[in-house]
Amino acid sequence: MTVDNDRIVLISGTAHRDLSEAVSECLSIPLADAHVGRFPDGEIDIKVNDDIRGADCFILQPTCPPVNDNWAELLLLLDTLRRASAGRTTAVMPYFGYARKDRKDEGRVPISAKVVANTLAASGCDRVVTLDMHAAQIQGFFDIPVDHLYAKPVLMQHVVRLGLEDPVIVSPDVGGIKLARSYAKVLGADLAIVDKRRLSGSEIAVEHVIGKVAGRNVIIVDDMISTGGSISEAARIVRAEGAQRIVIAVSHGVFCGPAKERLDAAPLDKLLVTDTVPLPEKAPDKVEVASVAPLLAQAIHNIHYCRSVSSLFDELPESRSPAGALRPDGGQADSKG
Ligand code: R5P
Repeated sequence: MTVDNDRIVLISGTAHRDLSEAVSECLSIPLADAHVGRFPDGEIDIKVNDDIRGADCFILQPTCPPVNDNWAELLLLLDTLRRASAGRTTAVMPYFGYARKDRKDEGRVPISAKVVANTLAASGCDRVVTLDMHAAQIQGFFDIPVDHLYAKPVLMQHVVRLGLEDPVIVSPDVGGIKLARSYAKVLGADLAIVDKRRLSGSEIAVEHVIGKVAGRNVIIVDDMISTGGSISEAARIVRAEGAQRIVIAVSHGVFCGPAKERLDAAPLDKLLVTDTVPLPEKAPDKVEVASVAPLLAQAIHNIHYCRSVSSLFDELPESRSPAGALRPDGGQADSKG
């Protein structure tokens, strides 16, 4: 199918309409006229009213809770666009649900992230844009292009403004070391790791910290907060070991189950998340939200105009040009191609 280079179409699912509207505003492209609702029995009812034949279509839909509902909606939107002869369809999933189930680590369990990948491709997805997937190697579950974005520049802008002296970046578990190291590199900070053991989906145990946090300002970074166990326990142990200010910078604030109670009770000075996922009604008191809408908009723009997406992450956050400055001809000063 040939893609009409003059037409970007943005279609929003219902998972996070506010973020879709913010992306649409950054791009100065209105959201397509589409009905995404429910039949009386709960089945998903979709009708796209705009003509999208040949267009370069981007569906904005994080597969956050309710994950199964949002995933099914995305699949039906993909099917809708394929049958409406869209030129190319990209699923923009700022949060990729089921990413934590990316391997068969015991007998008789599914690899859920692989099933998500299979169903997206089978429903007509040509490309995926996602952000801080729990495991970057999930890209390999797809045989279509996956653009993996990072919230780091967005969160770092806020962290840098705090002017924390002698900061140390803390990973709340061994699995988060790579992410933590990338933050430490930008700040020129040291790295420390919390020794965490997961007891169940919502319970964890921490015993000690590897690295020096006593008397220092700590920034705990992670890809997501789910029930808040990892972050609240990490904050508790670094405070017990003598940390001064404790700042949390996390890409996805899912905040389910006891997250609010745990985080409200934790010794945190600041809790930063992005808006990849809508804030639940019961959000932690100290939460502050940084928007990834300009970053998503810039990625959509670059994909449409065949510009590099990785170049968006070449610079330090302070010097990154705002996505508000998108040029209608697709031009961009520093694209690598
Ligand atoms: C685990 O490997 C992830 O990076 C997060 O640390 C974890 O999923 C957070 O879950 P919770 O908030 O329930 O501890």
